[in-house]
Amino acid sequence: MPHDHTTITDSIFSLLDTADPEAASILRAEDDRQSSTIELIASENHVSPAVMHAMGTCLTNKYAEGYPGARYYGGCEHHDRIEQLARDRAKSLFKCEFANVQPHSGASANAAAFMALMQPGDTFAALVLKDGGHLSHGMKINFSGVFYKPVFYPLHADPDHEQFERIDYDKAREVCLEHRPKLLLCGYSAYPREIDFARFRAIADECGALLMADIAHIAGLVAAGVHASPFPHAHIVTTTTHKTLRGPRGGLILCNDEEIAKKIDKSLFPGLQGGPLMHIIGAKAVAFGEALMPEFRGYSQRVVENAKALAGALTERGFRITTGGTDNHLMLVDLRPFDAELTGADAERWLEDAGMVSNKNAIPGDPRPPKHTSGLRLGTPATTTRGFGTKEMEMVAGWIERVLRAKGDAQEAGRVREEVRLLCEAFPLPGHEHAGARAGV
Ligand SMILES: Cc1ncc(COP(=O)(O)O)c(C=O)c1O
Repeated sequence: MPHDHTTITDSIFSLLDTADPEAASILRAEDDRQSSTIELIASENHVSPAVMHAMGTCLTNKYAEGYPGARYYGGCEHHDRIEQLARDRAKSLFKCEFANVQPHSGASANAAAFMALMQPGDTFAALVLKDGGHLSHGMKINFSGVFYKPVFYPLHADPDHEQFERIDYDKAREVCLEHRPKLLLCGYSAYPREIDFARFRAIADECGALLMADIAHIAGLVAAGVHASPFPHAHIVTTTTHKTLRGPRGGLILCNDEEIAKKIDKSLFPGLQGGPLMHIIGAKAVAFGEALMPEFRGYSQRVVENAKALAGALTERGFRITTGGTDNHLMLVDLRPFDAELTGADAERWLEDAGMVSNKNAIPGDPRPPKHTSGLRLGTPATTTRGFGTKEMEMVAGWIERVLRAKGDAQEAGRVREEVRLLCEAFPLPGHEHAGARAGV
């Protein structure tokens, strides 16, 4: 049905359609995929039109090596202002003294933090990777495992313990007292429970370590006051900007200590990176501005409510949620009680066929290899952005049950795919608000 609305996305694409139809058709296909499927990957989100636009600006044309007021190139007047704005907003958001907004990604932020606080060969402590840590927390072939010496603390492994699958703070303390790491690292990629930063700081103090919190996943919840802040406990905080914080893809480093801040600035540039991605820094400023608005708190609260609703609805349908639930935006689903034969890899593929995008994930103590896994990681930042509430999360749980019960049967997947598409049309993505009109509904 013809319509006279032009969405923001239409106007971006109309230019590309003429300039480069081949690239435009691929980008349109991806835009359609995102619009018509339910994004359940816990580390992904849909940015606002303002953030999307800020990334595509003249800021990309400029070299601005250095920092505001101390650049290696001329013509940086406005770049200084936008980077300062991003820094100031980041500091207000996380209530801290120093912010470096230049890391290209969360992994670069972690590399810079390690380089600022440790010498090659130094020991650091982190969570056992397969229990929810990130590869930049000590994976053998990652910079963190090649240049530094990781020692690992576990989750509680005893199913009869009330803290089963939660961080074992006593073991973390034992590991730290035994190995005396320079750095104690907390903050994870697949941990559904609140992190006790004060408890980690006490352990760090006792063993003479600095405390680093990588809040890549929970940054938006922290900024909104929905998860406890790592400040004042952590000496250094790293994060991504594109997950719950809903900004452009990138990293951020925060601290309260001037000496540490100077070391971070030096280790990031010229230590690790060259020219900063100024267009992304511009978009970080815009995203931080959005996160400072009162609405962002409501959004973050709904992210957690939705995660709890999805976890509850899946439990009712026979799945087991590790730790018995979630305090944040994500959950780990143990598929075995629902179907002992079902792997995370199969579940991921079958759900995608039905329009629900997720990722397989090891569950703590998973007997299956990482290629297969017994679990799925699900998150609600993206579905909450498009307006889903607890009712829609229950619908999602019902579809997950149907698809997995049918073991990937193509007809059932097709029926669910159609229902998913209709729900997606009723909840268009930011910047696609007239997409329903385009589809004639
Ligand atoms: C805890 C944690 N730290 C760091 C990162 C790395 O971020 P990036 O992919 O931007 O390098 C991630 C990404 O998933 C993460 O979960």
